Amino acid sequence: MHQEIREILSELDRQVPLLNTKQLQKKFENVPLEVFGGIQVDRPPEFSNLMNWLPKMPSADVQISWTGNADHALLKQSISFIRLSVGKYHELVCKPMSESNVLDFGCGWGRLIRLLYKYVPIENIYGVDPWDRSLAICHSCNLHGNLYLSDYIPRTLPTPTNLKFDFIQAFSVFTHLSEKVTKIAIETLKNHLSDEGILVLTIRPKEYWTFVLNQSPNFSSDKINQLLDEHDRNGFAFCPHDREKIEGEVTYGDTSISLEYIKSNFNGLEIAGVEWSETDVLQMIVFLRKRRF
Ligand SMILES: C[S@@+](CC[C@H](N)C(=O)[O-])C[C@H]1O[C@@H](n2cnc3c(N)ncnc32)[C@H](O)[C@@H]1O
Repeated sequence: MHQEIREILSELDRQVPLLNTKQLQKKFENVPLEVFGGIQVDRPPEFSNLMNWLPKMPSADVQISWTGNADHALLKQSISFIRLSVGKYHELVCKPMSESNVLDFGCGWGRLIRLLYKYVPIENIYGVDPWDRSLAICHSCNLHGNLYLSDYIPRTLPTPTNLKFDFIQAFSVFTHLSEKVTKIAIETLKNHLSDEGILVLTIRPKEYWTFVLNQSPNFSSDKINQLLDEHDRNGFAFCPHDREKIEGEVTYGDTSISLEYIKSNFNGLEIAGVEWSETDVLQMIVFLRKRRF
């Protein structure tokens, strides 16, 4: 770490007991995102006050089971996504992130919420997830923010009534939902999006299925061909996991979605940008906003 950055962190660490949360978060503006994420992974003992304030990381096993990767390798992917989405937000929305309400839909163990502390006051950060284990891990790591248990079929959100979000992110969530739940979740998120707000989500491209065929002995080439065919015909393919049914269907599995499907089926929303990152090649990042006409 550069000496000047170490000095910034040392000074910040001295100030932690003297500052309220808002003042402390304001100081994070001077800490580069990579460093801000890096100290959360490494937890250097010399910055003990900061380490007490920042959430702990869950074990590598937990990180991997939610996101397929852990620690610095995962941090690279998280930083890439946060950089792209915060950048796009500033490009498209005329409201500082420091005054925006943010929702992480399907927040898992709070991988991305903890990086948002650099930009958004924790009182404006909301996270929902229907899996109680996700929230239990958030709490055990001392993740700050407003966290709620949501429904697997999210016709409503458990966040305060009438609260609209300027920025909603859903990373690796629509890569897993059935078509019925996808449509319901999109409608619900649209209803909670402010008029100028941005909804960013990740989707799997068609190529994901070929990757699965090469990686996983559990999938036959017939099954993969069927999913590829579904994707070609409908722009949407879903392979449910072996899980309990909810309202008669498994809601969670692996999903690919085409941009054309989004254009035709995500009523009232339009695509405001598409991004892709070399750190996570089998996901596309899609920015949506309310349709303008
Ligand atoms: C692959 S993890 C991604 C977690 C987090 N977004 C991240 O990127 O670290 C998928 C998350 O979606 C959540 N999830 C599952 N079904 C959901 C639903 N119907 N609505 C919202 N989230 C859901 C899971 O509990 C899990 O935490």
